[in-house]
Amino acid sequence: MANDTDTVAFDVIDGIAWVRFNRPDKRNAMSPTLNRAMMEVLDELEFRSDVGVLVLTGEGPAWTAGMDLKEYFRETESEGLKGVRRSQRESYGWWRRLRWYQKPTIAMVNGWCFGGGYGPLFACDLAFAADEAKFGLSEINWGILPGGGATKVAVELLPFRKAMYHALLGEPIDGKTAADWGLVNESLPLAELKDRVTEVAKILRAKNPVALKATKDAIRRVGVMTYDEAEDYLVRAQEAANSFDNDGRKEGIRQFIDEKSYKPGLGAYDK
Ligand code: ACO
Repeated sequence: MANDTDTVAFDVIDGIAWVRFNRPDKRNAMSPTLNRAMMEVLDELEFRSDVGVLVLTGEGPAWTAGMDLKEYFRETESEGLKGVRRSQRESYGWWRRLRWYQKPTIAMVNGWCFGGGYGPLFACDLAFAADEAKFGLSEINWGILPGGGATKVAVELLPFRKAMYHALLGEPIDGKTAADWGLVNESLPLAELKDRVTEVAKILRAKNPVALKATKDAIRRVGVMTYDEAEDYLVRAQEAANSFDNDGRKEGIRQFIDEKSYKPGLGAYDK
């Protein structure tokens, strides 16, 4: 099943939704139109039974060159605060939706990733980059601070000194450096990127989907909690997950203890 709009395209193949920023001529800069289209696409895909994993990537040489300086900034600012707040809601809205998405998500960063692009980068649960990709907090280069969550993403993902250097200098780093710094999980040659992401997506697809959603939310939630708060949250989160999936974990135990058909330390049970 394929779908194309002007600014966002997607295909669903073998349980993986391949969603693409689709303004290659504008280096996939996020315009208000693209932000609205992305929310619609996320909405359409989130609860589809034929979608197990969502991959976010870009058409052409960019993942995304960040916010569209003309359409997102200059044109909405000309409408006054009403226009500015509306375009913020639209962009922050789909990034937030993606952070708490029902399905596991992977950023497949094929090329340029700047500024506002750090919002969806962080929103994706995992991130794989091409060695050839370039990442930058370029805001300082045109005279603003890294807003729209970009500063928060840098501080969440990078050590203090690297976050400060990255934001103050505005120098782009390549995919390998992004992996060394922890912005992405791995970097590999562009020619190998899609195969690796497909491999990871297939591994995720084989796992219990209720447990995946509970786990990804837990990883995002517990960071700001005390140990005791986290312990309590995790007990309740597992009990809530049990009410959606009564049999999954019992089957997981049965296949290991009774059937001896797999080892949980080495892979997933057969769901
Ligand atoms: N906003 C609006 N238009 C953009 C953006 C952007 N963020 N990025 C690229 N474009 C447009 C260019 O204006 C150009 O349009 P035109 O063909 O109508 O002249 C077209 O995309 C191609 O861009 P080039 O600069 O010619 O492409 P090139 O491959 O040489 O360079 C690069 C790519 C490095 C990404 C460059 O376009 C660039 O620096 N873009 C801005 C990156 C940036 O700083 N983004 C803002 C981050 S801050 C934030 O998001 C809040």
